Amino acid sequence: MNKYVVIFVAITIVLSIRYIRYRRRDGAGHPLPPGPIGLPLLGNIFNFPKTGAWLLAGEWRKKYGNIVYMHVLGTQVLFLNTFDVAMDLLDKRSLIYSARPPVPMLHLMGLDWTITIMPYGPKLRRQRAFLHQFLQPASMKRHHRTLMLETRRLAVNLICSPDDYMFHVRRATAAIIMMISYGHEVSPEEDIYVELADKVMESFAIAGEPGAFLIDFFPLLKYVPSWFPGVTFKRKAMAWYKNSRAMLTVPYEMTKRKIHDGTARSSILTDLIESNTRKDGHIEHEEDIAASAAVTYAGGSDTTVSAICSFLLAVVLHPEVQKCGQEELNRVIGHDRLPTFDDRPALPYIEGIVKEIFRWNPVVPAGAVHALEQDDLYNGYFIPAGTIVVPNQWAMLHDETEYPEPFAFKPERWLLKEGQRKPRDPTKAAFGFGRRICPGKDLADESVFIAIVTILATLDVQKALDEYGKPITPVPKYSSALISHPERFDCAIKSRFPQTLGVLQEAIENEQQ
Ligand code: HEM
Repeated sequence: MNKYVVIFVAITIVLSIRYIRYRRRDGAGHPLPPGPIGLPLLGNIFNFPKTGAWLLAGEWRKKYGNIVYMHVLGTQVLFLNTFDVAMDLLDKRSLIYSARPPVPMLHLMGLDWTITIMPYGPKLRRQRAFLHQFLQPASMKRHHRTLMLETRRLAVNLICSPDDYMFHVRRATAAIIMMISYGHEVSPEEDIYVELADKVMESFAIAGEPGAFLIDFFPLLKYVPSWFPGVTFKRKAMAWYKNSRAMLTVPYEMTKRKIHDGTARSSILTDLIESNTRKDGHIEHEEDIAASAAVTYAGGSDTTVSAICSFLLAVVLHPEVQKCGQEELNRVIGHDRLPTFDDRPALPYIEGIVKEIFRWNPVVPAGAVHALEQDDLYNGYFIPAGTIVVPNQWAMLHDETEYPEPFAFKPERWLLKEGQRKPRDPTKAAFGFGRRICPGKDLADESVFIAIVTILATLDVQKALDEYGKPITPVPKYSSALISHPERFDCAIKSRFPQTLGVLQEAIENEQQ
């Protein structure tokens, strides 16, 4: 029989089985949750947007309610549109809602070592425990010096070449993560380890897009040979594989060499290697140790970059926010020194800015998907095992019952008068839920705080002027990938005071001593 006929028949059989499963109710007749009606076999493929699904799911909430159910080519998807339902399922029932849906393309391209895509189990728990030792709130003080040093370098770079602001933010974030994970000082221009990790992150972003490759719907396609017409995914995966493995092994081996030479700086990796090396020199759980260090870059770089760039955009659009933040700094710490982490409790308005940054344009608007491991019943609805669960963070963080005028950037909503109810802290949703909650949330929060407070203290970020000298008001545009970034926008960044550059350089020199 012709090969194409065989593939067509196989796909039809798989779809039919999935469709029959999709139409199922449980034995007691509980219905599936409400959602848009789909076509037989194909499901909601035509009303499921390839990008920005969280916006549409938020709209569906008005029609169908807080949970919205649909299927695409037999893959069942459940959108959770409120914080309460996300807590009910992903947190309170985390025993069965903590898996990840398989993304065969990511495995094929050699990224199976990243805990972000791992199923819930002993390997994942071990790596999360490794990370917890260094990223829990009690360990944050250890990272403060690196955070302040790199953020002050960021401010210097923004003064010296303001047009490259996105590059500088990316470099600062990479430098923080590389120092914390490997004790590696990133080179000022090009750094081979950062370049390698960035290449992998680019391919991850392409392959991690739900349904980006046919193999995600039909995993058996991995057995089709790469020369087969139309099997481009396999050739792509092979091309990406080398870098994915190198991201795990190359910086790890570099750090091991430094430990051997006695030149390694203390880091997550050096500590983990030390505490897991047996008397005979054997390193236990070596791949998990290497993966724990590498995944901090995967999880922490792009996300923090997005939040800091969102802050720059927010102050360009809202000069009054920058003014109020700077006035608070003038009052609390004056002009004679740079802010530090110790100042945080005395800066409630700036704290409000940090909270709005995590809420206004969330870094992971559709949340990271979880997978349900066994059939479940919720509020009378049947949710079948295997359902992909999408915590719609965009909808949760723009819920107007919690945050009136949800699309406005308003740090003052966090300045409460007596008797006023505090809105829900956005970090409760922005960093995910249950057993898969972001292990880097405290580092992220502190990185974003120190970046915001240092920029406010040292720089003025304003609208750029067009050729006629008129201010340009950027129209915010965000990418619709899993990690959503503001697209490049025009802005003018200047030193706040004539002496600022000198103050920053002196502080950096002191930190380095
Ligand atoms: C603004 C910054 C950040 C945001 C908004 C963010 C958000 C998230 C979200 C929403 C998840 C998915 C949680 C879930 O599945 O329910 C996640 C997972 C993860 N994050 Fe972050 N994150 C940030 C920074 C960081 C940093 C700095 C690190 C590491 C140092 C990190 C490491 C990770 C890892 C390893 C996972 C996967 C956890 C797992 O699958 O079990 N993140 N993050």
